[in-house]
Amino acid sequence: MRVSEKACEGVKARGTGNAREQILRDLRVNLSVLLLFLLVPTFVCAKANAQDAPAAVAPSTAPAPGTVASSGAPTIANPPAGPTQPVAFSHKKHIAEAKMGCNDCHEPSRNGATVAMPQPTKCMLCHAAIATDKPDIQRIAEAAKANEPMQWVRIYRVPSFVQFSHKTHTDTGAKCEDCHGAVAEKDVMAKEKDLSMGGCISCHTAKSAPTGCDTCHQLNSVQLRSPAAATDEALVARLTRPEAPPVSILAIHRFLAAVALPSTSNFAL
Ligand code: HEC
Ligand code: HEC
Ligand code: HEC
Ligand code: HEC
Ligand code: HEC
Repeated sequence: MRVSEKACEGVKARGTGNAREQILRDLRVNLSVLLLFLLVPTFVCAKANAQDAPAAVAPSTAPAPGTVASSGAPTIANPPAGPTQPVAFSHKKHIAEAKMGCNDCHEPSRNGATVAMPQPTKCMLCHAAIATDKPDIQRIAEAAKANEPMQWVRIYRVPSFVQFSHKTHTDTGAKCEDCHGAVAEKDVMAKEKDLSMGGCISCHTAKSAPTGCDTCHQLNSVQLRSPAAATDEALVARLTRPEAPPVSILAIHRFLAAVALPSTSNFAL
């Protein structure tokens, strides 16, 4: 074997000297060679495994558009194209190729209720050295230098009168994909999941989570905006999805009365 051959050569070459010292030195050589033999395959295997491993997130198991996911918010039938962002950011590139995880850029904030949107200094951790010749990267570098935030165009938003916490949902096992689609496969982010009231309630119903109005709306909320619907029927349709139990107009009236807003039939639009 090569290890012992090498060690023997060492003994031959040195020839003279303290025998004990030589044995120790040879032992050290043997150990380091052995270590090398142990480490190299581990490293090679790790690399091979990384290449064999499926992309960070398994291929999309998204249901046919318009149907309810077995878990998660309903998929939007004809999702709008994603907005033009300040730089052409690709989730696919960073997750599948740069092997990043969601939390690397979107750390939980406000006790996990929200997650952060990444700022230029974060991007520069890599882009101080990667793709520095690209105009998009130079724009990020300028923003980082000027200490300016990136003006990301937001895709998912709930109005301020709606209670929503990421943490309570991920704590009960909801995955990012359940509510945002196969983000890891996307070059451009678009809104592909229905997180309107009907979408929320579809999943709550499927998961036996509470669906009472005060689950998601504080009854004393003063921020509830006027429903943008001319008739009760239109409002019910707006707030309901076909597969979820309909929200009765009575419940809406009761709810609006509780938040001290005029009943929907009084809204002049
Ligand atoms: C993936 C399915 C799913 C979707 C989609 C979903 N929810 Fe939930 N939600 C749950 C489950 C399950 C619970 C129960 C959690 C528990 O038992 O603690 C819950 C609990 C809640 C609660 C009560 C716990 C808390 O955080 O105070 C609120 C409020 C809530 N959801 C709001 C919403 C809103 C608003 C939306 C839509 C924007 C939404 N949810 C969409 C599954 C979902
Ligand atoms: C962990 C390292 C890492 C971080 C952090 C990172 N990126 Fe990247 N980024 C990469 C790699 C790797 C590529 C692929 C480079 C290539 O194709 O040559 C890339 C490519 C890009 C490109 C395409 C460049 C081009 O025109 O080819 C853009 C734009 C980009 N990143 C934006 C961002 C933004 C915005 C952030 C911060 C939110 C960010 N990156 C954070 C590693 C990173
Ligand atoms: C390298 C940093 C980076 C990583 C890693 C990353 N994101 Fe993002 N994410 C961004 C940037 C930048 C934007 C804004 C630009 C855009 O929408 O493409 C964004 C936008 C989003 C949005 C839209 C937010 C909104 O309402 O406007 C969601 C949802 C999202 N990411 C989910 C994820 C998930 C899920 C993962 C993991 C599978 C992930 N991201 C991993 C940087 C990252
Ligand atoms: C139950 C559904 C649900 C799950 C699961 C979920 N999100 Fe969200 N996400 C939302 C909703 C609703 C919003 C809009 C929140 C708002 O406007 O306050 C949102 C907003 C975001 C945003 C924009 C920043 C913010 O906090 O408003 C990012 C980024 C994001 N989500 C990433 C993720 C990542 C990463 C995961 C997995 C760790 C994830 N989401 C899991 C429903 C969900
Ligand atoms: C699981 C969470 C959830 C529950 C439960 C819920 N809502 Fe909502 N509600 C929402 C969300 C999210 C929106 C914002 C929808 C949007 O902006 O598209 C909303 C919006 C509304 C609006 C404003 C509509 C508009 O178009 O301006 C009214 C009114 C309303 N809800 C009444 C109710 C009533 C009445 C109940 C009980 C029967 C109820 N909600 C139960 C999540 C919920």
